[in-house]
Amino acid sequence: MTIPSLEIHLSEDMLTEALRHDARVGLTASPKWLPPKWFYDARGSELFEQITELPEYYPTRTERALLSAVAGEIAEAAAPEVLVELGSGSSEKTVLLLDAFVAHGELELYVPQDVSPSALETAAEQINERFPGVSVHGVVSDFTHTLHHLPRPKGKDGKRMIAFLGGTIGNLVPEERAEFLSSVRDVLDPGEFLLLGAGLVIDPAVLVPAYDDAAGVTAEFNRNVLRVLNSRLNADFDADAFRHVAVWDAQQEWIEMRLEASRNMRVEVRDLDLTVDFAAGEQMRTEISAKFRLSGLEGELAHAGFSVARHWTDPDDRFALVLAAAK
Ligand code: SAH
Ligand code: AVI
Repeated sequence: MTIPSLEIHLSEDMLTEALRHDARVGLTASPKWLPPKWFYDARGSELFEQITELPEYYPTRTERALLSAVAGEIAEAAAPEVLVELGSGSSEKTVLLLDAFVAHGELELYVPQDVSPSALETAAEQINERFPGVSVHGVVSDFTHTLHHLPRPKGKDGKRMIAFLGGTIGNLVPEERAEFLSSVRDVLDPGEFLLLGAGLVIDPAVLVPAYDDAAGVTAEFNRNVLRVLNSRLNADFDADAFRHVAVWDAQQEWIEMRLEASRNMRVEVRDLDLTVDFAAGEQMRTEISAKFRLSGLEGELAHAGFSVARHWTDPDDRFALVLAAAK
C-alpha cells in the first residue's frame, strides 16, 4: 500500500508568525476580533468534530444526507480525475464523493488541504486505506492565501474539481469571500469544477441553537482560540472568564460568535510584548458564519468567473450544494 504524502506549506514557525500578526491586529483593534482559522489546533479540530454530532448542529448531517443522495449525479456531471478539497478537516463526508467518483471510474488523486496538520494526517491515512486505487496527497496551507501550489492534473485531459464543503465559505467575511472565489477560479482551467457546500438562510430559532448548544461544546470550541493564543504566543488569557455568545445578525445574514469578558481583565501576550485590557461585558468577535440565498451565491460565483451547472438543496432548504464550472 502506498503511504499518503503530506506537503507542508505552513510550518509551525510560519503558523506562529501568522498568528502573531493576526493577534496584534485583532487585539489592538476596536472592537477586538480574531480570525476563525485559529480555532483549529488539534484540540479545536477535535471539538469541531464533536460539534458535528450535536443534536442542534444540523449543517453536517444535512450536507451528508444531501451528498449521499446526489454524489452519483455530481460524478456524472463532473467526472474529475483529481479532487482537491479545501478545509477538508476529517474528510468524513468526502468519502461519499470519493465512492461515487471511484465508481464512475476517473478519479486518480485526492488532495485534502487544511491549516490543521493533525486533522489532515488522520484523514489522509484513513482515505488512503479505504481507497487503495486513489493516490492521496495532503497539503497543509492557508486557503485564504494563494492556491497556486495546488497540484495540476497529470494528463492533458485531466480534470480537477475543487470541493469546499461544510459551509466554511460562510466563515469568510464578504471581501475575503470574493477574493477567495476569484483565486479558486484562477487556479482552475475553463470547464473544471468547484463544488461548494453552503448553509442557507433559515429560521433563527433553528440557527442560533446550532451555534449555542446546550452541552456547551461550541462554547469550548470558541474559547479554544484563547488557549491557542496562550500556548503559541505565551499569553495568559483566563479562558473560563470569557462567556460564549452567538447572535444572528439579520441584516448581514450571518451568525456572529463572540467571547465576552465576564470581568475587567488585563491580559499579557508575552511573545508580542502586548498588554490587552478587557472591560467587563466587552465582546470580541471570533467568527462569522454567513448563511446564503441561492440567488446571492450564484451572483457571487458569476462575479468570480463561474457558471452554475447544477445545484441541490435538502428537503428543508437548510443547505445547498452548488456545482459551478470555471468559465
Ligand atoms: N470540510 C469539513 C471541515 C469543516 S471545519 C467539514 O465539512 O466537516 C473547517 C475546516 O477548515 C477545519 O478543518 C479548519 O482547520 C480548516 N480551515 C479553517 N480556516 C482555514 C484556512 N484559512 N486555511 C485552510 N484551512 C482552514
Ligand atoms: C467550519 N464552519 C463551517 C463551522 C460553521 O458552522 O460555521 C464552524 C463552527 N463554528 C461554530 N460551530 C461550528
